[in-house]
Amino acid sequence: MSTNLAVVVDPDAPGRLVIRPVPEPTADRGEALVRVHAISLNRGEVRRSGMAAAGWRPGWDLAGVIERAASDGSGPAVGTRVVGFLPEGAWAQRVVVPKNALAELPDKVTFSQAATFPVAGLTALHALGKGGPLLGKRVLVTGATGGVGDFAVQLARLAGAHVTASVRRADQIPTVRQLGAHDVVVGDAIAAMPKYDLILESVGGKTLGTALAALERSGVCVTLGVSASSEVTFDARDFFATGRTTLYGFYIFTELGSEPASVGLRRLADLVAAGQLSPHISLERPWKEIGQVAQDLMARRFPGKAVLVVD
Ligand SMILES: NC(=O)c1ccc[n+]([C@@H]2O[C@H](COP(=O)([O-])OP(=O)(O)OC[C@H]3O[C@@H](n4cnc5c(N)ncnc54)[C@H](OP(=O)(O)O)[C@@H]3O)[C@@H](O)[C@H]2O)c1
Repeated sequence: MSTNLAVVVDPDAPGRLVIRPVPEPTADRGEALVRVHAISLNRGEVRRSGMAAAGWRPGWDLAGVIERAASDGSGPAVGTRVVGFLPEGAWAQRVVVPKNALAELPDKVTFSQAATFPVAGLTALHALGKGGPLLGKRVLVTGATGGVGDFAVQLARLAGAHVTASVRRADQIPTVRQLGAHDVVVGDAIAAMPKYDLILESVGGKTLGTALAALERSGVCVTLGVSASSEVTFDARDFFATGRTTLYGFYIFTELGSEPASVGLRRLADLVAAGQLSPHISLERPWKEIGQVAQDLMARRFPGKAVLVVD
């Protein structure tokens, strides 16, 4: 068997990421060996790579083919095309993945599309779930041009919500309208009448403070990211005096304790296969460009998702 290569942290490399030989993975009984064909990058793991010690292996999102099925006889068979989610180390040629973090891919779904599902897609799916049935509800998505925002706008629209996308600049309006946003707000002009039943807030800083004031009394604000800043000030009197009740701290790894990743991954794959959901892949490159793409992601040089093809 050929050497297994993986992305590892090297503080001296551009973007602190390089491809290096790593040990061949060994599978437990409920784990399958996957030959990876595509991976995608997320802000959180790239941010962590910027601080992690040499040798750390980032990577949450992967798509590929089962090379060896789980030895307990469960999960997808050899040759099945799959999408998978790992807590780290997914950016490699071969990885082992627990069967409950794998979903089979319909033929119509490409590896590149599938690689965008795990963190960005599942985060949007589970975070929207905090608002209950969304038919006719008013939903605000901040950071709407990012990986999570892209899925959130599309999925909220599919669920029957009235969707408002919040973006930083006026030139981003056409992008989010194309995803399905009914309304777009630019900058922190978030205040709305009527107010929002559900807010997915991933920017933090001033944006979260402003968003909270635009929340319906019985609404839910899901705080899930701090792309701008983790320091937030908000008008606490306005929050309690209006009787607002729910600010939900969301962490995808915690959410997946209640429902295995395989369930949501399959739902996302089926929606893409049916032509109802279309991941916004604005960059598709060979994985040897990981260092540059990671830097471009952190500098926000492209919208939506970046996918890397693993050879
Ligand atoms: N809690 C969880 O479980 C969880 C799961 C997934 C993601 N997250 C977090 O959620 C956030 C969104 O994730 P993502 O993958 O969508 O990230 P992303 O692709 O990098 O998108 C970031 C989004 O935030 C916007 N933004 C506004 N102000 C920004 C600023 N000062 N710096 C950078 N971006 C800014 C960007 O707008 P422009 O397009 O104008 O740059 C873009 O829409 C990230 O902070 C991520 O770490 C958390």
